[in-house]
Amino acid sequence: IYKDSSEASVAIAHEIASLIKDKAKKNEHAVLGLATGSTPVGVYDELVRLHKEEGLSFKNVITFNLDEYYPIQPDSLQSYVRFMHEHLFDSIDIPENQVHIPDGTIPEEDIYDYCDQYEAKIEEAGGIDIQLLGIGRTGHIGFNEPGSRPDSTTRLITLDKITRKDAASDFFGEEYVPRRAITMGVGTIMKSKKIILMAWGEGKANIIKESVEGDIKESIPATYLQEHDNTAIVLDTAASEKLM
Ligand code: F6R
Repeated sequence: IYKDSSEASVAIAHEIASLIKDKAKKNEHAVLGLATGSTPVGVYDELVRLHKEEGLSFKNVITFNLDEYYPIQPDSLQSYVRFMHEHLFDSIDIPENQVHIPDGTIPEEDIYDYCDQYEAKIEEAGGIDIQLLGIGRTGHIGFNEPGSRPDSTTRLITLDKITRKDAASDFFGEEYVPRRAITMGVGTIMKSKKIILMAWGEGKANIIKESVEGDIKESIPATYLQEHDNTAIVLDTAASEKLM
């Protein structure tokens, strides 16, 4: 628990930076699982600063994003491809072919195979070293909404009504929020060597309490993380306030 989200974000960015540097010394890739939304922005800001001011290189980094709306064009305002380029990729030296974000333009009949290939690429890269997560008010991680199975893999899902409501302002109205998304599965996330779930602000306090202290259950997918042996829950004071 940190005083505020800026302090927490800087600490997380520094942990990622030391992984990247350790791997570079060994001539290895660092594999990062990345999230979008408001929560990780401070982490990306600090990573960009470390690149620009302290020479941190991302040439040995491979990234896999958690999710993307479906369908969506990559250049549309709300696309996670666009988000990642604006907040991180356009400001660092990561080679473009080492960036992976689920493609919201895949024809529907090809999605199943596409998702299988996404899983295979993560495996080929050696698995995810650090997976960053935010949490939705439904308890979703990635877009694994209530009802997601613990062994689920990358797939097309239907977004929860609460998630679509929370995204309404980004899309200028709930009716314009896509009904579906492609997301890494809970099982995909659980294979990560380290998971860092972040939550800021009092709006997340209830779901954090249920996720951390509640029983493990399908109706709150974040509770599955209780069974992962290397997960950190990083909070600001406000998000921690309902914890015992
Ligand atoms: C985004 C993602 C989601 C968000 C969650 C919280 O890639 O996978 O699970 O992390 O919806 O969103 P914010 O951070 O906007 O509160």
